[in-house]
Amino acid sequence: MDPPAMDPNVLSSRSRIAILGAGSVGSSIALCLILNPVASEVILVDPKVELRDAQVKDLGDATTYHGAVGGGGVKIRSGTHKDAGQCDVIVISAGAKQRHGESRTDLLGRNLHILRSAINDMKPFREDAVILIVANPVDVLTYFARKFSGLPEGQVLGSGTFLDSARLRGILAEKLDVDAGSVDGYVLGEHGETQMVAWSCVTIGAVPLEQCLLPNTVLDRKAIAKETREKAGKIIQAKGATAYGIGALTGSICKSILFDQRNVRPISHWIEEMECCLSLPVVLGRKGVLRTLRMPLNEEEQASLAESASALRGFISDAEK
Ligand code: 2OP
Repeated sequence: MDPPAMDPNVLSSRSRIAILGAGSVGSSIALCLILNPVASEVILVDPKVELRDAQVKDLGDATTYHGAVGGGGVKIRSGTHKDAGQCDVIVISAGAKQRHGESRTDLLGRNLHILRSAINDMKPFREDAVILIVANPVDVLTYFARKFSGLPEGQVLGSGTFLDSARLRGILAEKLDVDAGSVDGYVLGEHGETQMVAWSCVTIGAVPLEQCLLPNTVLDRKAIAKETREKAGKIIQAKGATAYGIGALTGSICKSILFDQRNVRPISHWIEEMECCLSLPVVLGRKGVLRTLRMPLNEEEQASLAESASALRGFISDAEK
């Protein structure tokens, strides 16, 4: 199988991505960035240097494949926090992961400490650096990464409900017997228990959901929202952590940024009037979040989103005590 050709934009940009955290999530992100190259160099950073260097060696075998067949392999190497601060995109997956029965918010204390220390060690940042938070609780960590880093707010973002929205689209695609790429559906708010589905805005190839049901099909919206919200927990219960979904989506976000693609994605970012970070559709480009798109939510959906924002403000205020 030939590797995907390197996009000429990448080689000319000589862009670099740092990944903080060499565990299952960080290494999955790195593998996705090797198999679908979007940067010329990927730097893995982790205080567990033996793990970090072993991951780099293992990933190196994957990227050698590209070089061997002339695909222009991505350079993968170990690095430090100082190296990371000078990269174009800094992915932060470092931190504890949920154990079965734990919520993402249960990780806040441990992961906020790791985040603060990492950001301090990376300073000074290159002025156009984009920080992409993947660790959980992603929305609250995105809020604090923006605060600690001092970078312009558009340049600090989190994977948010991009993964939940992909899960929702996969479920709907199966129930409607259509390709997931034709399902335009968004999960908004917290990447967590208070997330909500913008059902009134779901379209299938621009056709409202209601008009796309198969004969004798009833969509149980509550059950589908629950299945979407609980998917990670079921995977964690069975295999201990999720990694491949977030790995692929993080690679996609990095591409949107480094190729300045202007894709629209549900991404966690600072929302002034809500005084927190949560996911709404944004236009993504080299400067991170270029602008937020406001969906025409109905009253019930607006109330659910407000509840999610209120819960996130509560987590922030608890963490600041
Ligand atoms: C996920 O949703 C655990 O936040 C991670 O896969």
